[in-house]
Amino acid sequence: MSTQHESGLSLLQVSQERYQDNPYLLYHQLRELDPVYWDEQIQGWVLTRYKDVIKTLRDPHFSAVRFNFNVDWLPPMFQEVVQPTIYAITRQMLFLDPPDHTRIRSLTARAFTPRVVESMRNEIQQLVDRLLDQMQEKGQADLMADFAYPLPAIVIAQLLGVPPEDRERFILWAGDLSMLLESTNITEDDAIRALYGMREFTEYFRQLIAQRAQAPRDDLLQALINAHEGLDKLSEDELLSNCMLLLAAGHGTTTHLLSNGFVALARHPEQFAWLKAHPDQTSLAVMELLRYDGPVQATSRLATSDLEIGGKHIQAGQNVLISLGAASHDPEQFADPDVLHLDRKENHHMAFGQGIHFCLGAPLARLEAEIAFRALSQRLSTASLVDEQHVQWFSGMVFRGVSTLPITFN
Ligand code: HEM
Repeated sequence: MSTQHESGLSLLQVSQERYQDNPYLLYHQLRELDPVYWDEQIQGWVLTRYKDVIKTLRDPHFSAVRFNFNVDWLPPMFQEVVQPTIYAITRQMLFLDPPDHTRIRSLTARAFTPRVVESMRNEIQQLVDRLLDQMQEKGQADLMADFAYPLPAIVIAQLLGVPPEDRERFILWAGDLSMLLESTNITEDDAIRALYGMREFTEYFRQLIAQRAQAPRDDLLQALINAHEGLDKLSEDELLSNCMLLLAAGHGTTTHLLSNGFVALARHPEQFAWLKAHPDQTSLAVMELLRYDGPVQATSRLATSDLEIGGKHIQAGQNVLISLGAASHDPEQFADPDVLHLDRKENHHMAFGQGIHFCLGAPLARLEAEIAFRALSQRLSTASLVDEQHVQWFSGMVFRGVSTLPITFN
């Protein structure tokens, strides 16, 4: 392609060790080099400027139908087994355009209302307190394993009415699904395992849905089953895809908001002290933690017609990588973008996306994080990591987080 750069820079390099701690360095380099960058290695355009990101996510000429998990390499017997799972993933609203997207999102939103989220407040507070009590007793803890990982999983499991004894399986399925969605470096064995996990998940939820027909309950799953617009309802396949999406979209993301946010606070003791002194400002602080180091760094779209972004000609069918992390650190939009200001006002970051696919779970994620960070800042005298230098990031093009986070509970 004539627009190829000789720099050899690629968004794929974000997985390299030198950018793991700070991918924003790479995004700044890409933006300075060319804010609408043809990435030869990805074979797609990479957008790093706030204004291009927001415009593209709002533009109906870009399609979200982009999930393309090729299973041709699997033996035919496996292909048959996993095909329904692949189909279920492609029917998630995140990978659909209007009118299908509009229909499924609006039925889901009827069940997953702000009232349902708010009704979880006390339960989330109790859960946070219980998990922190257990950590405090031990003195030292892994904030990931003991807190950030179980908290959102238990919340979604509770919302969907998954019994406590099945939560462990539920958490494993969450891992399988994120692996499939971030499928750039996945091995054959992992893919097969994850696809089988998803098959178990759909079978499990098929049973749960059938049970609800006999014995209705008051939870989100029931509300999704009952949600209707006139005669229109979610089909069983759509219900399954939706449950899978709520799990996939709501678990790892919230986990990594908690962990990335904690690392940011540990590295900025003066900001932690500010939070401690201003517990009523925690909601504002969470918005800044989302901007500063969000768990979802990028999304993608396909151009459906020839069009122009920032003077570049994008051809119909070409892939566009939208860097949400870069947009949230664009100096044209944010003063001192790489500085953590917990009291930052007018913080229109891109961590939850934009446009018709704007995160449906944003109120829940914000509520969980608000309760969690308020409790952490009130209980801990400082946010201390056991080994600040060796935080193990896993930072891919799409998701960013840490795998363990040993902390001292002081
Ligand atoms: C900090 C936590 C979270 C972050 C950073 C996050 C981020 C995002 C982003 C960036 C998108 C849009 C992707 C795109 O346009 O391609 C999205 C969509 C979505 N998120 Fe979240 N999310 C979080 C938590 C949650 C939670 C807790 C739930 C639900 C339990 C959830 C459910 C969804 C759903 C259903 C969509 C698809 C919306 C649509 O396609 O219309 N998310 N999320």
